Amino acid sequence: MRILLLTHAFNSLTQRLWAELQGRGHEVSIEFDIADSVAEEAVALFKPELIVAPYLRRAIPESIWKRHVCLIVHPGIVGDRGPSALDWAIQGGEAEWGVTVLQAEAEMDAGPIWASAVFPLRNAKKSSIYRNEVTQAATSAVLQAVERLAAGDFEPTPLTACSDARGSLRPLMKQTDRVIDWQHDDTTTVLKKINAADGFPGVADTLFGHACHIFDAWPEAVLRGAPDSKPGNLLVRRETAVLRRTSDGAVWIGHAKRPGDFKLPLTLAFGAECAALPEASLADWWLAKSQTWQDIAYEENDGVGFLHFEFYNGAMSTAQCERLRAALAWAKQRPVQVLVLMGGADFWSNGIHLNVIEAASLRDGSPADESWNNINAMNDLARELIETSGQITVAALAGNAGAGGCFLARAADHVWAREGVILNPHYKNMGNLYGSEYWTYLLPRRLGEQDVGDKSRAIMRNRRPLTAQRAVETGFTDACLAGDSQAFRIDVARRAAEIAVSPGLAQQLVAKRERRARDEAEKPLAAYREEELAHMRRNFYGFDPSYHVARHHFVRKSLASWTPRHLARHRDLGWMG
Ligand code: COA
Repeated sequence: MRILLLTHAFNSLTQRLWAELQGRGHEVSIEFDIADSVAEEAVALFKPELIVAPYLRRAIPESIWKRHVCLIVHPGIVGDRGPSALDWAIQGGEAEWGVTVLQAEAEMDAGPIWASAVFPLRNAKKSSIYRNEVTQAATSAVLQAVERLAAGDFEPTPLTACSDARGSLRPLMKQTDRVIDWQHDDTTTVLKKINAADGFPGVADTLFGHACHIFDAWPEAVLRGAPDSKPGNLLVRRETAVLRRTSDGAVWIGHAKRPGDFKLPLTLAFGAECAALPEASLADWWLAKSQTWQDIAYEENDGVGFLHFEFYNGAMSTAQCERLRAALAWAKQRPVQVLVLMGGADFWSNGIHLNVIEAASLRDGSPADESWNNINAMNDLARELIETSGQITVAALAGNAGAGGCFLARAADHVWAREGVILNPHYKNMGNLYGSEYWTYLLPRRLGEQDVGDKSRAIMRNRRPLTAQRAVETGFTDACLAGDSQAFRIDVARRAAEIAVSPGLAQQLVAKRERRARDEAEKPLAAYREEELAHMRRNFYGFDPSYHVARHHFVRKSLASWTPRHLARHRDLGWMG
């Protein structure tokens, strides 16, 4: 089927649908919803049999929905309507939520229903629910709707005829609905409110006497701060987060956005103020503790070491890369046979921290210098992983990975991804960034001896997302594991434990060391790094400002003014329609 995805952005859900539909042989093109006339032009050029809107912020024009079947993905149960579906569900503590695929009509979200799916609503951030449960449910519902449309005899059910419709029309959730009453709200309530607003728009609040929006909350069960502290007081800081008293405990707040600024780690958004708070560092900070906030945590089981790094949005600043490298170096000294890099629950890694880099420009610093420091810290981390000689290493991707994060994963001996994961193993979307993390060593080594250059170039040039399954087929990863995040963790632990006790392990380690020594003799890692960084130096310090411009727009979430040509196939020169 010829399917046009009309969307506000090529976000993770849109990427997943694009990849799943494409993988089933459909002809898929994408147009960003920029203006009615642009959408109309795309429809005229592509002549789609179906239009799917996975992520829209405004209504589809009548000129389109009257003449074409347009399916809207609504992140709510049947009958739910309105722009804040997930926000209300999370804040209201719903036990079950869902996704409905309905046909666009004059009244928003009220068209006949083609498919729906439900899921238990986890106690988690909205962005996490969106990237996991919503994306999974939307994918199965859209695929079902496409099959129904293809069958030709399916009649979508009008909303009024849905006897099981539990949802209702709800307004946009405003900041007045989100207000935290620090004197009276308990920890559970505070977490719900911040979760319901994560990663956008955040909860409007005040920190250190300054207005801001807060994000990224975590419970604290152990540390309560000064005994004479009062609800609402800021108690201590740890790495990027700050602990704040609630009426019955305390929560960590990880990120804040000040007016006119963009989202930053809290201790950077309020640098001077946070510096005055006492530091609550963890003794043996890498060892996993329970019931507190910790961005890097290590645990061990059955001869396997698991290194978790829960970095918000998968972005890794210079300091985070340095701390993770130190934790990895420490883990390498442990008596374990396998080291598994688990990443975070929602993202494994998205590479260098573009917001922290951009923040240098707010403080008379140099984003070019910060980019340089960050990529070097990423490279040090990648080298630490590549040079692990005493263990078999595994990158276990429960969440998505992008850009440098994908190549950092590839620095491990094995890369296993959960089946719902999307990988973007390319850099060029960020202002034609060349990329580093030893990709020029790692990528050709992976893709077999034949056509190495062509395959590597295609992955880097195509700039398309890969599903976990497709990533195995291309040779970029080694396994795609079925199931949800919990099943994935269990499967990863089992597979890693099997490697740890396998009779061939010693031989594998010898072969690994020999190969590394051979590769090093042929061309040292330092030479790959130097060549990559020569390109990166031009990206950061050269005459062409593309990377700085792209980063600026990415961080400040500038609205797209056109659809990138590699996504809008109908705009290709010579497209015959
Ligand atoms: N640095 C800082 N923030 C990042 C980031 C990075 N490298 N990568 C993603 N984010 C943030 C986004 O700004 C967004 O923030 P929000 O919480 O305020 O909405 C959030 O992570 C999720 O990103 P989003 O783009 O919505 O997720 P996605 O799953 O739809 O797309 C990517 C994933 C990887 C394709 C996309 O985020 C991307 O292109 N990231 C940049 C990768 C990059 O170029 N890194 C630098 C080179 S190594």
